[in-house]
Formats: sequence, structure tokens, C-alpha cells
Amino acid sequence: MMQPSSDTPSAETASGGPGGALSGRLRVPGDKSISHRAFLISALAVGESRADGCLEAEDVLATQACLRALGVDIRRTAPGSYRIHGVGVHGLAPPDGVLDCGNSGTAARLLAGMLTGHAFPAVLTGDASLRRRPMRRVIDPLDAMGAEFVTAEGGRLPITVTGTDDLIPVTWTSAVASAQVKTSVLLAGLHASGITTVVEPRQSRDHGERMLRNFGATVSASAADGGLAVSVEGNTPLRPAAIAVPGDVSSAAFPLVAALLTDGSEVELEGVGTNPTRTGILDALRAMGADIEEERVEDAGAEPIANFRVRGRGGSLQAVDLGPEYAPRTIDEYPALAMAAACANGVSRFRGLGELRVKESDRLEALRTGLQAAGVAARIEDDDLLIEGTPCPRGGVRIDSSLDHRIAMAFLVLGTACAEPIEVDGAATIRTSWPAFGEAMRQLGAAIDTEAAAA
Ligand code: S3P
Repeated sequence: MMQPSSDTPSAETASGGPGGALSGRLRVPGDKSISHRAFLISALAVGESRADGCLEAEDVLATQACLRALGVDIRRTAPGSYRIHGVGVHGLAPPDGVLDCGNSGTAARLLAGMLTGHAFPAVLTGDASLRRRPMRRVIDPLDAMGAEFVTAEGGRLPITVTGTDDLIPVTWTSAVASAQVKTSVLLAGLHASGITTVVEPRQSRDHGERMLRNFGATVSASAADGGLAVSVEGNTPLRPAAIAVPGDVSSAAFPLVAALLTDGSEVELEGVGTNPTRTGILDALRAMGADIEEERVEDAGAEPIANFRVRGRGGSLQAVDLGPEYAPRTIDEYPALAMAAACANGVSRFRGLGELRVKESDRLEALRTGLQAAGVAARIEDDDLLIEGTPCPRGGVRIDSSLDHRIAMAFLVLGTACAEPIEVDGAATIRTSWPAFGEAMRQLGAAIDTEAAAA
């Protein structure tokens, strides 16, 4: 039963090379975190929910496939638009086979939370990257609530979770600021009778809380020791809702940085989510001197949205020192931000990045080694990343994506600002979050080739 999922060896090689200024308008794909939650939370409502603007990429398709295997009817009505027929809290059905979450930590950890309220065994697994990632951070609280877990060595995937009809509500203090931990425990809390609380050391993204409220759940949040305590009331039925998913600021980070690195660029990004728990990248880039105009768009739902106009003045970015308080609201954007720092004047320091070690790859190490290979001085001190920028790095290297979409996209973007192109092996991983990345960047005029054959 405990079989790992098959890994598709990603032979695809992509390249990013120097070229002219970027121009044009782009709508980035739907937010990945919000798309996962749209399917997962809709699945627990009673009746049909609607979600528009959803990300259609491997990670979210994995969540959809797992939910279908758990008896949830999901229909695609148009590109990015879905009808999800929720089965109600406690209403999931035992799956026939293993639930394969692919590359997605969000899928694995949030599904684990939902499954704890269901009295049947289910096996969660994923690709080689996901099977290396820590799961104890969700297993510990879910175990305290009464679910049972059998795991591979070190508490990793594959895991078998056997839930119960009698979940115990808990107050759980998480050692890490993690929206995956928070949402997982809150989703489990929906199935417990009483109030379940998660205390996080710093506020992580709050998409789960916003969406749960939209579905009629009683969710409260209050400050706690510099962090946040979030509570949900269990055993209240969720009503269906309509969700409008904004563009993903984590994807927007790549064209944003690419435009900033090329002199004379002017790029507009439309409909990007600007939830304040996600916008550290904008504050950081502006602190580096970036010219980013923001026009607020009327909210389509629970999440704020804006259009951006970014202008590149090559060589004008300045180094920045970002404290650890940036980490939760910038966590997925450090790869893009590191490329901006690689081309800025001076030494940038990003502090408190321990969590980057347990992402789709060890991103701290992947950034350090990739930057060094491309001719940029970079080093790690404790959990800080230091980057000594240079306006036109050498490039001319081949880097491995380490099954990490953001590492792949970041180095392709860096290549556009280098003297020589950067090649990325294993670029197929980009399909986990932005299948049309190469096409979108080429439309803006970037010399990014994602069709290149492996040599
Ligand atoms: C996510 C939370 C973050 C983030 C990940 C998506 C989510 O992870 O890095 O890409 O959707 O909740 P952590 O919760 O591990 O910080």
C-alpha cells in the first residue's frame, strides 16, 4: 500500500538570455494558495460552489484529483471556472487508491487536516521533492486531535492517516509561521465539536480564514505574543459560496523582477492579489528603489486586487536588508527577490530564512549555489542569505531546478540580465504553478526559451 508515486524525470531544459526591454500587459495565473483552498473548502460545504479564475497547473490539478477520489464532484465549466459539489463536513468517501499530491505541500498538508475528521484510512504521497518535506508539523497537532498516522521514516510521506468521528478540539501552538499548518488544523477543527485554535509565532497568509468565513464558518483571530491566535468553531455546516481567485502575486514576482532588471522596460500586470500577508515582495522591491505603480481594483471577493505598472531602469536597484519579519509575507518570493539583489548595487541581506530549507527544494542552498555558479557572490550565515549584487552578472551556466518551479523561473529571469544565458535543467517543474510561463515571458519580449530540448 505504501508505494511512492512515480516521478516523471523532467528532462526539459529551458534557457533565459540577454535581450531588449520588456513591454506589454500580462494577466498572471490564478493564485495557487487560494485555488487549492477554493476546491478543498468547497468540498466540505453542503451543495454547489462556484470558483472562477482558478489556477490550472499541476499542483492544483493534484488537489482536484485527490478530492474526486474522495467522492467530490468537480466540473470544469470554462477555462479556470469550476462547479464543486460539496459533500459536507464529515462527508468524504474512502478512496480506492493512494492520494498523490504530486509536488504540492499545500495539497498534502491541507488534505491531512480534512481527513482527520473521517473515520477511514487514506494514504497521502507525492513526488520525490514532496516526500523529502517535513510533515510532523501537521501530524503532531492532528495526532493530538485524535487521528492516527503511520509515516515513512522521519515522519515523511507516504503517510496513512486514519481519522475519527470524535475529533478533540485543541489549542495548538505552532513552532513555525505556516499557513499550511494553520489551515490544516483549522480544516480539522471544522470536524471537532468545540473550538480549535492555532497560535502562530508570526502571522502567515490568511486566505484560509477569509475563505472559511465566506462559507459561513465562525473564525476569529486575535493578537498573541507578537503572533496570531486563530480559532474556528467546529461542527457548523458550511454553505456553498462563489469564489473569485485573484492573480498570484508569487507568479507576478517573476515578470516584475524581469522588467526591473532590463533598462527601458514597461510592463503592466493585471488583477494581482494584494492580500497584505503576501505583499512583502512589493515592499522589498520598493525599498530597493523599484518603480512600481499600483492601482487598486474593486474587490471581487474576499481578497484585495490591484493592477501594477512597473518600469525598469537598468542598474538602478539598491541592495536591501530585510529583517525576519518579512519572511512569512515574502516566503515564496525570495527566489525572485534574490535575482533582483543579484543585480543591485551593494550587499543585500535577507534574514531569518530557515523555512526556505524545507520548500520544494532547499531554496537557501539552491539560491546560494546557483548564484555563485552564475558569477554572483552569495553566502549563507545562519539562516540569512547574503548577496553581493553586480549590474550584469556573468551567467553562462546550467543549473538544476531540483524539482522546484520557483528556482527554475528565478534563474531563467536572472539569465535575461546576464552577459551569457542561463540554462535550467528540469524546467518541466514550472508546470506545477505556471504552465504558460515561457510563453507569457516571451510575449513581453523576454528571451526565455522553455521549449529547448535537453542536450
Ligand atoms: C502556502 C503556504 C506557504 C507557502 C506555500 C503555500 C499555502 O507554505 O510557502 O507555497 O498555500 O498555505 P508554509 O505554510 O510551509 O509556510
